[in-house]
Amino acid sequence: MIDDPYRDAELVELYDIDNPAGEDHAYYRGLADGIDARSIIDLGCGTGLLTRSLARTGRTVIGIDPSRTMLDYARRQPGSESVTWIHGDASALGPDRTVHLAICTGNAIMHISPEQLPSALRSLAAAVRPGGTLSFESRNPTYRVWESWTPEATYGERLTPVGHLREWLDVTDVRGGRVTFDAHNVFPDGEDRVYASILFFRTADELRRELDVAGFTDIAWTGDWHGAPIEDRSPFYVFRARWPDYTPRPQS
Ligand SMILES: C[S@@+](CC[C@H](N)C(=O)[O-])C[C@H]1O[C@@H](n2cnc3c(N)ncnc32)[C@H](O)[C@@H]1O
Repeated sequence: MIDDPYRDAELVELYDIDNPAGEDHAYYRGLADGIDARSIIDLGCGTGLLTRSLARTGRTVIGIDPSRTMLDYARRQPGSESVTWIHGDASALGPDRTVHLAICTGNAIMHISPEQLPSALRSLAAAVRPGGTLSFESRNPTYRVWESWTPEATYGERLTPVGHLREWLDVTDVRGGRVTFDAHNVFPDGEDRVYASILFFRTADELRRELDVAGFTDIAWTGDWHGAPIEDRSPFYVFRARWPDYTPRPQS
């Protein structure tokens, strides 16, 4: 267990600048509209940039995140009143079976440990209605992106709304698919604020198995936001699965 890597309020102010709406947001919004999702859960919603953009009349949107700093920021943004914000992880979801679409974006699923993932997927499964959809993206371990997270390759300096910032990443441990790295941030006061993160890289087959065990069906994945097949060079994959239309009675 590590401390919340998103606990620095000043750095959270920069999150949406560094992670603006892109093809990922267009994909999740298109998915929601395509299945006429009237109820959406965004697990690991962070600052809620995408979450808020999903809200519209006749649709319920829930954003849930274990980072108080991220969620506090989300709650302060314009349009936040259209979303129900929940502080917590997937275990805070009710087993309502009412949700049309559950999403986990910005690679948030990679923060969920192997010990937690089965129960997180079970909680999502219990929240989703029959025929409902789950979708998320996850980085492809074959792409080995962490090898580029060196201080030399990631070092940068920039003027931000919260002051001049020097920043870099430093991978401190790679064990199987578990990658630990430090994010260094130095503002003009000279203090190096270091936040450690652990990301769990999983193969497409590992994720398919986890979804299958949790009871999801029609499990499919692509190598980009437009349906391309996955390749070793795909930086990430996009998963989509459905909860079955009905649950067969156990055979007696
Ligand atoms: C990279 S941010 C993604 C935020 C947002 N979804 C986006 O697309 O920008 C990862 C988020 O996952 C959240 N997170 C960390 N551990 C989690 C867990 N066990 N369950 C759900 N979310 C988690 C973090 O607090 C953080 O807000």
